[in-house]
Amino acid sequence: MSDYKFIAGDKKWWRQAVVYQIYPRSFADLNGDGIGDLAGMIDRVPYLKSLSIDAVWLSPFYPSELADGGYDVADYRNVDPRIGTLQEFDKLIEELHKADIRVFVDIVPNHSSDQHEWFQAALKAGRGSKERDRYIFHDGIGENGDIRPSELVSHFGPTGWTRVTEPDGTPGQWYLHLFAPEQPDFNWDNQEVRDDFIKTLRFWSDRGVDGFRIDVAHALTKDFSDGLPARDTMDIDPKKPDGSDPLFDRDEVHEIYREWRKVFNEYDPPRVAVAEASAPAHRLGAYASEETLGQAFNFDLLHADWNTKRFKHLISNSMKRAAKSGSSNTWVLSNHDVVRHPTRYGLPDKTDLVKWYISEGKSAQLDAKQGIDRARASTMLILALPGSTYLYQGEEIGLFEVADTPREAMQDPQWFRNPGKARSRDGCRIPLPWTATGSSFGFGPGGSHLPMPADFGKYSVEVNEKDANSVLNLYRTAIAMRKALQCAEDIKFIFNWNRSVLHFARPNGWQSFTNFGKSPVKLPKGKVLLSSQPLIGNQVQGETTVWLQA
Ligand code: NOJ
Ligand code: CA
Repeated sequence: MSDYKFIAGDKKWWRQAVVYQIYPRSFADLNGDGIGDLAGMIDRVPYLKSLSIDAVWLSPFYPSELADGGYDVADYRNVDPRIGTLQEFDKLIEELHKADIRVFVDIVPNHSSDQHEWFQAALKAGRGSKERDRYIFHDGIGENGDIRPSELVSHFGPTGWTRVTEPDGTPGQWYLHLFAPEQPDFNWDNQEVRDDFIKTLRFWSDRGVDGFRIDVAHALTKDFSDGLPARDTMDIDPKKPDGSDPLFDRDEVHEIYREWRKVFNEYDPPRVAVAEASAPAHRLGAYASEETLGQAFNFDLLHADWNTKRFKHLISNSMKRAAKSGSSNTWVLSNHDVVRHPTRYGLPDKTDLVKWYISEGKSAQLDAKQGIDRARASTMLILALPGSTYLYQGEEIGLFEVADTPREAMQDPQWFRNPGKARSRDGCRIPLPWTATGSSFGFGPGGSHLPMPADFGKYSVEVNEKDANSVLNLYRTAIAMRKALQCAEDIKFIFNWNRSVLHFARPNGWQSFTNFGKSPVKLPKGKVLLSSQPLIGNQVQGETTVWLQA
């Protein structure tokens, strides 16, 4: 286990960290079985260090039947043998820590895999057992109980209840799953469930893990005192903004996080956590407070049009929220669930991304230059803001969403459980291209678990490294510079007559100036530190961010 200690006193390292999300099965495959592995990550620690990131967040690498890309966990305190071993995990932590990179792991507390030993035990134990009480089992309606207990739509459609066969072979009870049937929801009123997650948090913290990303953090506690939930939509947002939705964002959930906080604070530095919570803006602070998880994702930018006013508005709101909760801002442009942002920015405004995906990218024309220009500018913009920036693997080499993956190769349950209605998230989970040519473009010596497009080599790390103006070189320079420039968590907007300009300054005089428009605008006064596109004389090109020092 890692005995490396970070500088004492650096308890707030996470407040303005750059965190790089690794989707383990698609990062680097060292043994050539087509699945990314821990050995592959260890091999690429020098690459991660070259990005000057502060931390990595590993999406689930636990044993899993992969009904939902690993978010169906069969054993919370182990490594999927296809990905590696606990010894390799320890080695990875040690190497990352030596490189000054902290580690977040994903905790998936709302549901387990149906392969989890507890769920298997629940199936065997039958109605009314203490094993069933760890999940949410109910009898069906009607004489034979063959009508599902309530009209509940699951996130992966169509229904949130699945019927089991009882140990004697008869059709039996139903269990609730907000996601796929292979992801039964835990019953968080059950003390054993609570204790087991505390054990999991300690298990990884003891191994040197620095932080946790909490999956669907707003769904754990449920209240069915007014009857079993009926829900006709696939989304996972509370229908009421006041904590009274039976499934989502209930106040009681914070009792759990207050317990977790006590565990985090047993360590030095205290472990940290970031909530993936879908709650109204005014209720996100409760997840991000110092008494609970500490930080919550702000996903506003995932849906924001490329528009000065919109960006300014959501930045101001986020600043206010952070001030109120005492936490820091979080900025996210891409992750493993959404369309990669160069694609979003390259498609005409208001493009229906589901339709676009279903048409294999043919329903709307992608303007790749516009997509990348805006992506470069928006990355520099968010890196200049106070708070943490969460990056998703592959964005640093300018990857676009892949919409034409052969349909038979798809893995995402959201796709095949909702024919014609949903996008597959496989499009942002294609393995990374490391080399211009070769077997799976350097992802590994074998194939790749999701097919890689024939032109993927042009986005490879190798090709990026050879071009001084590449996306990768911009990320490297910008992240390193940000580290050196980092200062108090504040900004002041600077007025500009041009409505396409978003200009702000940090307390130490570090300024960020974004031209959202297509036409060039005049560069303001100050020493230019970095620009997402070359300047033309004293003109900032369209869709460009420039950093300056006043
Ligand atoms: C959110 C995760 O990011 C997503 O990938 C997953 O499908 C759901 N939670 C269910 O765990
Ligand atoms: Ca492998």
